[in-house]
Amino acid sequence: MALVTRWATHGRPTERNAHPHMTAQVSVVHNGIIENFRELRADLEAKGHTFETDTDTEAVVHLITHEMQNGLGPVEAARAALKQLRGAFALGIIFAGQDDLMIAARQGSPLALGHGTGEMYLGSDAIALAPFTDTITYLEEGDWAVMHRSGAEIFDRDGRRVDRPSVKSVASSLLVDKGNHRHFMAKEIHEQPEVIPNTLANYIDMVTARVNFPDLGIDLASINRVTISACGTAYYAGLVAKYWIERIARVPVEIDVASEMRYREAPLPKDGLAVFVSQSGETADTLATLRYCKANGQRIASIVNVRTSTIARESDAVLPTLAGPEIGVASTKAFTCQLSVLACLAVAIGRARGTISAEQEVEIVNGLIELPRHIAALLRNEQTFVAIAQDLSKARDVLYLGRGTSYPLALEGALKLKEISYIHAEGYAAGELKHGPIALIDENVPVIVVAPEDDLFEKTISNMQEVAARGGQIILISDALPEKISCKVAAHILMPKVSSFATPLLYAVPTQLIAYHTAVVMGTDVDQPRNLAKSVTVE
Ligand code: M6R
Repeated sequence: MALVTRWATHGRPTERNAHPHMTAQVSVVHNGIIENFRELRADLEAKGHTFETDTDTEAVVHLITHEMQNGLGPVEAARAALKQLRGAFALGIIFAGQDDLMIAARQGSPLALGHGTGEMYLGSDAIALAPFTDTITYLEEGDWAVMHRSGAEIFDRDGRRVDRPSVKSVASSLLVDKGNHRHFMAKEIHEQPEVIPNTLANYIDMVTARVNFPDLGIDLASINRVTISACGTAYYAGLVAKYWIERIARVPVEIDVASEMRYREAPLPKDGLAVFVSQSGETADTLATLRYCKANGQRIASIVNVRTSTIARESDAVLPTLAGPEIGVASTKAFTCQLSVLACLAVAIGRARGTISAEQEVEIVNGLIELPRHIAALLRNEQTFVAIAQDLSKARDVLYLGRGTSYPLALEGALKLKEISYIHAEGYAAGELKHGPIALIDENVPVIVVAPEDDLFEKTISNMQEVAARGGQIILISDALPEKISCKVAAHILMPKVSSFATPLLYAVPTQLIAYHTAVVMGTDVDQPRNLAKSVTVE
C-alpha cells in the first residue's frame, strides 16, 4: 500500500506541518478541512494529548489515538473518530504494527482506491494513481474503506457493507480522467468541495481563522485604487471582488474586461495595484492589459491556475488557485477558486487599511471555511437540477437576475448556460429590469433569480413580482424559506444558510448545475462547445 506525502493545508507550509501527521500509534494524510478541529483539539488537550503542529489533521490523529487508548481496535477507533468529524475531507489512515491495514474515508472530497497485484493504493483520483495502477474504485460520499494488500471492504456512512464497482481508468494514457462522471465539467463541479479548501488554505491561517496573505510588494494600507481586469468567467470573479473590496476595504475598484481595457488608454493611479485573473494564464487580452498596466507603473498581481503561464511569469506577485487542471471549456471550479483568493485579498486589504476588525475577519474566514461542506451537501441533491433542466431546455431565451454580488453571478450563470447549451441567456442587475429587459418577459421566458436572503432580498422580491405579473416563469435560487417569498415561483432551489459574504462561492454551484444538466438534456458537446477554445491566446 502506498501513502503519498502531502503538504499542509493548515498552518504554514513547513516540514513540521506537512503530512503525514502522527502519534506513536496512528498516522494520517488528509485532504480538505476538519471544521470542528478547534473544539476537538481543545477537548483532546484537556484529556492530556500534546499537539505538535498547527494543522486540523492532527486533531484526527489524536482522536483516533484516544479511541484506541480507550480500548478500541484500529478499525473501530477510526470509525468512532470519523463520526465525530465535521467538514469536507478525505482521509488515509495507517497504524503502527499493522502493516496490512489502511483506512480510507471520504466525506465531501474525492477519494479513489487503486487495485494492484497483491497491493492496494489510495489517492484523490485516477491521475494520482496512474503511475501505479489503472484499476480504480471511486468511493462515494460518506464511504469509508478497510484496505488490505489483498483488497478492500467498503462501508457507507451508516456502516453497511457496500459494493462499489472497479473501473479501468484511462488516466495513465491521457493523464486526465473523468472519474465516475460523464463529462469533465461534471467532475470539475464535483471537485469544488476539495479544491476550494485547498485554495483557501494557501491564504488562511486555519488555526487563528485569520487571513495570511502573501506580501504583494506594495503597501496595501496606502493604495487608493485597485484595478482588476480579466475575460469571461474570470472577469465575473473580478466583478464580485469589486463588491467585496469596496465594501470591506473602502477602496474604489476599477474593473473592465481586458479586451476593452487594453485599448482605452485608461488613466492609472501612481503606484497602484493591478490584479489580473485568468485560469489559463495565457489569455491574450488579459496579458496585453497586464503589459499596459505594467508599463504604466502598476504593481502586478495575478490570480492564475497555471503557475508556469505567461501571465504568472510576467507578474510581480502570483496568487495561485489550487483548482487542479480544468479541462471542460466551461470554467467552474476555477471560478470558485478565483473567488476564494479574491475574498482573502479583500480581507487582506481591509485589514491593512484598518477598515475591518479582527472579529469581522474571523467571522468572514469561518464563513469561507464552512463552504465546502455546504457545497458537498448541495451536490448530493443534484437530481433537483435535472427536472429544472428539462424545462429550461425548451426555452429560447433565459434571463438571470441578481443584485449586489449576485449580479455578477447572474452574468456568470447566463454565460455558463449559453456557452454549453446554446440557449440565448442574459444576466442583468435586477434593478435594471424595468429599464428595458422587462419587455422580453412572457410565459415562455424562464427567469432565474439569484437571491440570498440578504439586505437586498426585499428589493429583488419586488423585481420578481414584476416578472410574475407578466407570466414569467421564475426559478429562484435562495436560502429564504417559501413563506418569505411573496410571489409565485415555478421552482425554488432552497439553499443552505451561509455567511452573507460567502454566498457567491456557494450560489455559483446551482448556476453551474443548471447549465450542465440543460446541456446534457440538449445533447450538446458539454466539454467542447462549438466555436470555443479553453485558452483564448488570440484576441
Ligand atoms: O483562462 P482565462 O480564465 O483567462 O479565460 C477567460 C475566459 O476565456 C473564460 O473564463 C471563458 O469565459 C470560459 N469559457 C467561461 O466558462
